[in-house]
Amino acid sequence: MSCEEAAVEQQQETAEDKTEDPSAVESLSEPAKEVEVSPAEEPAAAVTEAADKTPEEDVFTFRALVLTGYGGYDKVKLQVKKGKPTLKSGEVLVRVKACGLNFAELLGRQGLYELLPSPPVTPGMECSGVIEALGEEVTDRNVGDRVLVLGRHSMWQEVVAVPASQTFIMPKQMSFEEAAALPINYLTAYMMLFEMANIRAGQSILVHMAAGGVGIAVTQLCQTVEGVTVFGTASASKHETISQGGVTHPIDYRTRDYAEEIRKISPKGLDVVLDPLGGSDTHKAFSLLKPMGTLIVFGAANCVTGQKKNLLAMAKTWYNQFTINALRLMHANKAVCGFHLGYLTDEELIAQTMNTLLELYIQGKIKPRIDSTYHFEQVGEAMRRMHERNNIGKVILLPEAKEEAKEEKEDKVEEKLERAESSPDPGETEHKEGNVNQEEASKGEVKSEEN
Ligand SMILES: NC(=O)c1ccc[n+]([C@@H]2O[C@H](COP(=O)([O-])OP(=O)(O)OC[C@H]3O[C@@H](n4cnc5c(N)ncnc54)[C@H](OP(=O)(O)O)[C@@H]3O)[C@@H](O)[C@H]2O)c1
Repeated sequence: MSCEEAAVEQQQETAEDKTEDPSAVESLSEPAKEVEVSPAEEPAAAVTEAADKTPEEDVFTFRALVLTGYGGYDKVKLQVKKGKPTLKSGEVLVRVKACGLNFAELLGRQGLYELLPSPPVTPGMECSGVIEALGEEVTDRNVGDRVLVLGRHSMWQEVVAVPASQTFIMPKQMSFEEAAALPINYLTAYMMLFEMANIRAGQSILVHMAAGGVGIAVTQLCQTVEGVTVFGTASASKHETISQGGVTHPIDYRTRDYAEEIRKISPKGLDVVLDPLGGSDTHKAFSLLKPMGTLIVFGAANCVTGQKKNLLAMAKTWYNQFTINALRLMHANKAVCGFHLGYLTDEELIAQTMNTLLELYIQGKIKPRIDSTYHFEQVGEAMRRMHERNNIGKVILLPEAKEEAKEEKEDKVEEKLERAESSPDPGETEHKEGNVNQEEASKGEVKSEEN
């Protein structure tokens, strides 16, 4: 991904749809035609009409978040779509329980993510849920399977029709929130660490945005290799948490020059630097490498300074872009790599890596940290949490209507009271809803029927 490229591309764009990228992860076809939209904050969302549906399919409705244009939070609206998504051969219908919010969606809302088709479009690259129907020729999935799903967009809706090959069976102990938090962050982290950097015992690494979704995934995966020293930049309020999570040297990039701080501790430099920032930070990253070190560029977060697009920040990031010629690179004895999951077309590699990650989860070696959960109606607040740099871990979106969740919670409280009256259990905790951190969420998040 490059927001610099996206900025140029956006200027050239007309209202017509962008050409599909040949990604391994196919896009979803929209089942319904949009006729009206309503602000995400309004629970009574607009209804869109489906064409050529049978009466039975016609009564089927589902909630979806739709990016209606580029700009601020108000551009993402909640709609109710009408008409059941039609399954193609090899596809499954998933009832979505939780969706992941990624930095790419913040870029996408500003028109800076080139893999997201032009609005109107439903964003979302990952979700989790339960299989509700099977298309023809699906033999390795069953109705009722709990799955996590990896897509390119269109995952932020109550039901999705996706190729079965893009679904992965969730381990029994995994919550739907964890499953929605895993695919993008952990695939990115794993592939950078083990496919590109080939990180080894005793090496040192710098990870920026260390308290974010990818940052925490990188830190956890580094713990699977003996004696890796992790330098992590994050806002100061998050340092205690990331230290507990495995960051050896947390650095407050807001008040200190992180490169100077690293040189004080590690004068010879680092083996690996992961750069999701771009611009002048890529120069710093390259200069921080030891000979034989590896720099992986995987984002341009410096382009984004808030809710609305910042042309100055984009220009600055573009102007300070890192370039190097082959001769200088050879003399430096350093490797410079780029990674972008969205452009990775090797489906087999993605599936293999996902299975490795699920195994690591089962072994207790990785566990997505859920920062907070928001209902679809609250998508603006969810995005604000990331823009304002408040999240520690993953921000999750829940398709379930806020009111329904409230009623369910009230029912559960009533049930608990009834049970407490008959047999008091001091160990039980109350479900706290809304914008909650991981500890709170673990008490009452959306769980599988089995849990
Ligand atoms: N290439 C790929 O395939 C790929 C895949 C996934 C993600 N990424 C990239 O990886 C990075 C992290 O993504 P993520 O989804 O895990 O997000 P994230 O790290 O959870 O993002 C939010 C956090 O990043 C930090 N941050 C630093 N600069 C920021 C800025 N300009 N705006 C907002 N927050 C900023 C803030 O924490 P602190 O202030 O505490 O640092 C904030 O809380 C992004 O650059 C993203 O584009 C790339």
